[in-house]
Amino acid sequence: MKLIKEEEEMVEGKYGRVVQKAMELLVAVGECYDAERMVPVASAHLVGANRAAGKGGMRFIKELAEGGGKFLVPLTTNPAALDLWAWKDMGFSEEHYLEQISISDAIAKMGGFVCNTCAPYLIGHAPRMRTHVAYGESSVVLYANAVLGSRTNREGGPSALAAALTGRTPCYGYHLDENRHGALKIHVNAALEGDTDYATLGYFAGGIALDRVPIFTGLPSSLSQDSLKSLGPPLATKGSVAHYHVVGVTPEAPTEEAASGFKKISPSDIFEFGPGDLKATEESLSRAGPEEATLVILGCPHPSIGQIKKYAEVLSGRKVKDHVEIWILIPHGIKQVAEDIGYAPIIESTGARLLSNVCPAAMPLDYYRKRGYKIIATDSPKTVYYTSTTKDALCYYGSLEKFVDVVTRKA
Ligand code: F3S
Repeated sequence: MKLIKEEEEMVEGKYGRVVQKAMELLVAVGECYDAERMVPVASAHLVGANRAAGKGGMRFIKELAEGGGKFLVPLTTNPAALDLWAWKDMGFSEEHYLEQISISDAIAKMGGFVCNTCAPYLIGHAPRMRTHVAYGESSVVLYANAVLGSRTNREGGPSALAAALTGRTPCYGYHLDENRHGALKIHVNAALEGDTDYATLGYFAGGIALDRVPIFTGLPSSLSQDSLKSLGPPLATKGSVAHYHVVGVTPEAPTEEAASGFKKISPSDIFEFGPGDLKATEESLSRAGPEEATLVILGCPHPSIGQIKKYAEVLSGRKVKDHVEIWILIPHGIKQVAEDIGYAPIIESTGARLLSNVCPAAMPLDYYRKRGYKIIATDSPKTVYYTSTTKDALCYYGSLEKFVDVVTRKA
């Protein structure tokens, strides 16, 4: 790799051992992917700032902080397993809580913004178009690449930390124009009615695209940010998609030709998503009925204030049934807004809970089984995937409107 003078000085140790180690790591990653140079990054997002990082990951973060590491660009953190306020009610021990706090402290000591959300762009951390960033976690990667038009690969915890410590990332993959063009087209014929339908489309498309960049056509130009936010994560759950285009909507796709980089899409790479696909994909995600659910998880990816308003409208005037718990995951900053505006009191008066800092995938492997949550109802394909494939719970999948009568009663 060709390094500029400042980067070479980082490798030589001029800026201390932590920066040296970080730049060595980035050079090794860059060489692995045949990157020719580094690019400056505007920000980083860290997944693994929690117990999911394992003992080794936690030690690595603490060593960087104890070694005097300071982030050169803003670094935000992904959600953890526990709500920092409601951890006891969630069944976590004080040991787990203190462990989480010690990692958060280490990140804060280096100048990180411990927001514990997978939607940092909702609380003021939205990179500009064409800006290079180093983000981990698939939903924020997809939002950054597709919706904001900024540029990131899917970073692991160490490489995101190293990018924040040096302000650099190796220039390969989605940092390069040629890798951002669409390779297949999915024409949508089905009428999509809410964010959950967009999530279902994402799950369908992820299974076709795998690791390629899909181009969606047939979607309305009025598509909301919330629907785009819902479309992204399932693309990376069923497949491993890191970027997508919606013609006439996302910033790199003013036309189909621009989205594909003016390359012709082969007929074998053109697909349709019709009403039958919508129904079949939705049904394929359920392994149980909503009447069997004892836990409902909503808000994956973390919701906007508009989505919280919708949950409040659907739940208003109802009470959560005695044998059921409803969790609505939420960025802490949005929770405070929801409290001020009045959506939080509506939701909480039903018995549903707003949990901040929390990700259903970050839970310990035996969490759901140990707590007796055998069947989970959710409006998120990503929650279905992580709770049923890795955590031994069965799921019902659908929009809250479809099953609200089953898990709540009239107040
Ligand atoms: Fe966010 Fe966790 Fe869902 S990172 S997208 S809440 S699985």
